[in-house]
Amino acid sequence: MPAFKELVFSGVQPTGNLHLGNYLGAIKRFVAMQAQFDCLYCVVDLHAITVWQDPAELTRQIREVTAAFLAAGIDPARSVVFNQSQVPQHAELAWIFNCVARLGWLNRMTQFKEKAGKDRENASVGLYDYPVLMAADILAYRATHVPVGEDQKQHLELTRDIAQKFNNDFAGAIAEQGHGEAFFPITEPLIGGPAARVMSLRDGTKKMSKSDPSDYSRINLTDDSDAIAQKVRKAKTDAEPLPSEIAGLEKRPEADNLVGIFAALSDATREDVLRDYGGAQFSAFKGALVDLAVAKLGPIGAEMQRLVADPGHIDAVLADGAARAEAIAAPNIAAVKDIVGFVRRR
Ligand code: AMP
Ligand code: TRP
Repeated sequence: MPAFKELVFSGVQPTGNLHLGNYLGAIKRFVAMQAQFDCLYCVVDLHAITVWQDPAELTRQIREVTAAFLAAGIDPARSVVFNQSQVPQHAELAWIFNCVARLGWLNRMTQFKEKAGKDRENASVGLYDYPVLMAADILAYRATHVPVGEDQKQHLELTRDIAQKFNNDFAGAIAEQGHGEAFFPITEPLIGGPAARVMSLRDGTKKMSKSDPSDYSRINLTDDSDAIAQKVRKAKTDAEPLPSEIAGLEKRPEADNLVGIFAALSDATREDVLRDYGGAQFSAFKGALVDLAVAKLGPIGAEMQRLVADPGHIDAVLADGAARAEAIAAPNIAAVKDIVGFVRRR
């Protein structure tokens, strides 16, 4: 595999409330990666409309996710922050990838099965095609690293399969046109840390999710200190004190989840947390977790509120980001068109 320039890409959908899982599994890690890599962070509005979105609400949510990125510490001068629909290359490359990806590959996608539910005949074609657009998002920039939560693992495997098949199918043209052995990198998923899969506060076996009907299942980035405190105090636990060793968290999903959240919020490991709180009762541990969560999330929520009050500023950030994103994607897509054999306006 030839060397590709290291580049980070990730996306978040502007659908529903951003929660602690989105923050710890994704956005907090986006912030950290800026020190080491050139990064693009995208509000994936084209993905959002794979299920119905009220237009005015969609507009609001695009700005709110952008505000969350900025409030969490993504620096729009250093990283490229933009919304997907402003950069036409995503949809263009998705079409070409539709002709590379196989039906059999998409039929295996578990997220489609979950989201489509029983009424599959009535799901949008876009929902089925969602992972192909995601591959286009990443590969339009030839991104090498993608930080995401655990739930995106299968989609990133599909992205790798699409890149591999494109590189193989067009190997002749890719070499002739001076791109060497491969046009697309085989992207590395960056999934990990103590919060790769944050679970519901009501049920430690279910993922914390925007779509859970119970607001007590999640901590939203916009929750105030009182709401955070109430939700942590009401979080489901078991009757035992915390163990001192990781092995003691086995078969205790709620305890494991709260320890993982504590670890991620304090930039520590589960081991570190158990060293400090092993033997503690949940009442004491939850008190410490409330203080920690309020200290870390409170300022982000407040800054989000300040930012969304000035949509003009948010829109200017997105416009600047879109122009910089397009400047990277456009030559890549022009090269793809040449590789495929299209005749192009020059
Ligand atoms: P979405 O809101 O579905 O666009 O997800 C945005 C990012 O948050 C993705 O990287 C997801 O993998 C991540 N994410 C969503 N829910 C969770 C969760 N419960 N735990 C960890 N990461 C999550
Ligand atoms: N599917 C991702 C999610 O729901 C969002 C997403 C879209 C994404 N395109 C992406 C994530 C590209 C990483 C890279 O969380």
